[in-house]
Amino acid sequence: MSENKGPNADDGLVRLQKVLADAGIGSRRHCEELIGEGRVTVDGKKVFRFGEKVDPQTAVIHVDGARVETRAEMRYYMINKPRGVVSTMSDERGRKSLADYVEVPERLFHVGRLDTDTEGLILLTNDGELAHRLTHPSFGVEKKYLAEIHGPIPRDLGRRLKAGVTLEDGPAKADKFRIFDQSGRRILVEITLHEGRKHIVRRLLKEVGFPVQQLARVEFGPIKLGLLKPGNMRALTVKEVGELYKAVGL
Ligand code: URA
Repeated sequence: MSENKGPNADDGLVRLQKVLADAGIGSRRHCEELIGEGRVTVDGKKVFRFGEKVDPQTAVIHVDGARVETRAEMRYYMINKPRGVVSTMSDERGRKSLADYVEVPERLFHVGRLDTDTEGLILLTNDGELAHRLTHPSFGVEKKYLAEIHGPIPRDLGRRLKAGVTLEDGPAKADKFRIFDQSGRRILVEITLHEGRKHIVRRLLKEVGFPVQQLARVEFGPIKLGLLKPGNMRALTVKEVGELYKAVGL
């Protein structure tokens, strides 16, 4: 192979350190160090040679065990959906939808939905396989919610929710539960589930006698909403995308 050919001169093959640098891992120099230290695998095999060329469209690359997305057209964002906004990219009835807050030109789809009355974390991507796995119950990705309820609550509420209740469409239970904050009768509870049936948190809490006053999703698998304000969106970091892949076995 001639050295003076451009990076894409041979069937889309590009040097590994450039692919990693383009994916946001760091400078080419840093990526060479990672390769030299044996921290990079391509299609499951450790690569030590800097000159190695790969096809960024098809190669499955991991750094320190975390998948690195190298397809240039792939996009991963999160948005904090405000209350009152529908979880779709458009709305026939003219209500505010996610499209009113998305600031990028790419066509994205939302990973799952939140009730119009619920605010919080929604992932947006054009990666169909990842989106499918994140929402499919068989992958069991956990979602964490903060729910405001009116107390006082019994000491065994968490135990009852984790033991499970029967709803009209079958059994449901929380994986985790804790009191997050309490001021007077207003109690904020943190509840984690790995399923996504419609209104599931509201129905679960109502069933045990504590209808939800306000609801927000604060985590989706490894991704945390953090301080992102309602109505704002941001790109996920390379690390966050790697963690999402890991959560669904990609
Ligand atoms: N559970 C609910 O009740 N509502 C949501 O929006 C998400 C989970």
